[in-house]
Amino acid sequence: MIKLNYSAVDEILIGQENGLNLKEEFAAYKDSIAQIITGLNQRKDKPGQWLQWMNLGYNEETLWYVKEYAAMIKGRFENILVLGIGGSALGGIAVTEALLKPYWNLLSEEQRDGLPRIFFLDNIDPDSMTGLLDMLDLSKTLVNVITKSGDTAETMSQFMIVKDRLEKELGDTYRYNIVATTDKRTGILRQISEQEGYKTFVVPDDVGGRFSVFSAVGLLPFALVGIDVDSIVNGIKDMDLALKNTDIHNNIAAQNALIHYLMDTQKGKNLSVMMPYSSRLKYVSDWYVQLWAESLGKNKNKNGEDVNVGPTPIKALGATDQHSQIQLYNEGPNDKVINFIRVEEFDNTLEIPKIFEYTGIGYLGGKSINQLINAEADSTKVALEDYNRPTVTISLPKVDAYNVAQLLYMLEVQTAIIGELYNINTFNQPGVEQAKNYTYALMGRAGYEDSAQTLQNKMADV
Ligand code: PA5
Repeated sequence: MIKLNYSAVDEILIGQENGLNLKEEFAAYKDSIAQIITGLNQRKDKPGQWLQWMNLGYNEETLWYVKEYAAMIKGRFENILVLGIGGSALGGIAVTEALLKPYWNLLSEEQRDGLPRIFFLDNIDPDSMTGLLDMLDLSKTLVNVITKSGDTAETMSQFMIVKDRLEKELGDTYRYNIVATTDKRTGILRQISEQEGYKTFVVPDDVGGRFSVFSAVGLLPFALVGIDVDSIVNGIKDMDLALKNTDIHNNIAAQNALIHYLMDTQKGKNLSVMMPYSSRLKYVSDWYVQLWAESLGKNKNKNGEDVNVGPTPIKALGATDQHSQIQLYNEGPNDKVINFIRVEEFDNTLEIPKIFEYTGIGYLGGKSINQLINAEADSTKVALEDYNRPTVTISLPKVDAYNVAQLLYMLEVQTAIIGELYNINTFNQPGVEQAKNYTYALMGRAGYEDSAQTLQNKMADV
């Protein structure tokens, strides 16, 4: 199981001004945390609560369908191209970067055991899109278009371009190169899929994009590139069981949620840094940034009062960012909680040769890169303590399917718990809509004529 070490947020280590009296706080919040955990588990099956992501570890049917489809098409495609944005892409990127062999797409077919390369087109930059589409042999590419709503402009414009190219190249059989993951009943992509006869998978009801990584949104691409989806599901199930524990002393998601909540509301530390000491976990930080930003940045609480809450998530990478952001974290404003992710056992051990012993770098010889990266994580943590900066450390025994699934699921539950502490709706994102509507207006979508007029007036003022 993954572990959380929170000793470096305690006032014993970093002083009263910046630290928390955790013994007292855990006792004070014991009952409300227990109520929150019980409440989430009781409400999770109720329609409209957006908590179905808590059931994804138990969705045997989806797991079966995903594995069956992956087995059926094995060997048919050289590439998987995922089209999606936000919650429809970030989990897939985080997990594939963590679990596939590094530089996967550059490996030979043999080195990949005959499994396809995987590309995520998660933006609409015309140059990078053109570059990718020119590079891929579309006839040998399976396109997985993912959108829960079925009408996201970025994803659907990508899809329209790719579909058009595929059809021109392959004629009527182009449809066998497309698999759509979308809502069961509604949305334009569902309608198109039925008309055109695409293979489809479902984004389940009451699972929002940023909580969808363990639905077919993630599981399908993972299975297609040979990631062990059974271990992923086992990781979620085991973590779910552990996090059902209503005692804060035994629930790491509740502990980290409460720590972040108190650091924000009592100590003015409303920035949350996610800093894995593992390049393979780099994109977990991107996923976490979206999870926290969209879930927790809210202007109203559940009572309709103006609150404008939300810790700002920041991504960092150890040891790289020691040479970029750590100066700020140590000496700048003391307004952050830093989450280190530490990997106990790497897949490889990389020895540093005993050379240049007569120079100042001679001390490195005979040690390993493994020792160095974890020594850097430890020293950075202690240095931050010296500056009275709070840190927590999440330890992963290994970067494998089981542990990465546990990590992501733990962070999801942590997000749901801190949302309850803020008393906000964690699962909506009304703040995203305004700019979306203006984009629709600018691009001439029917029904948005009024917004187009408002926008033109505002743009004329600038
Ligand atoms: O988390 C979310 O809900 C969003 O980030 C969505 O995933 C994103 O906007 C894409 O939406 P859709 O899957 O409907 O295309």
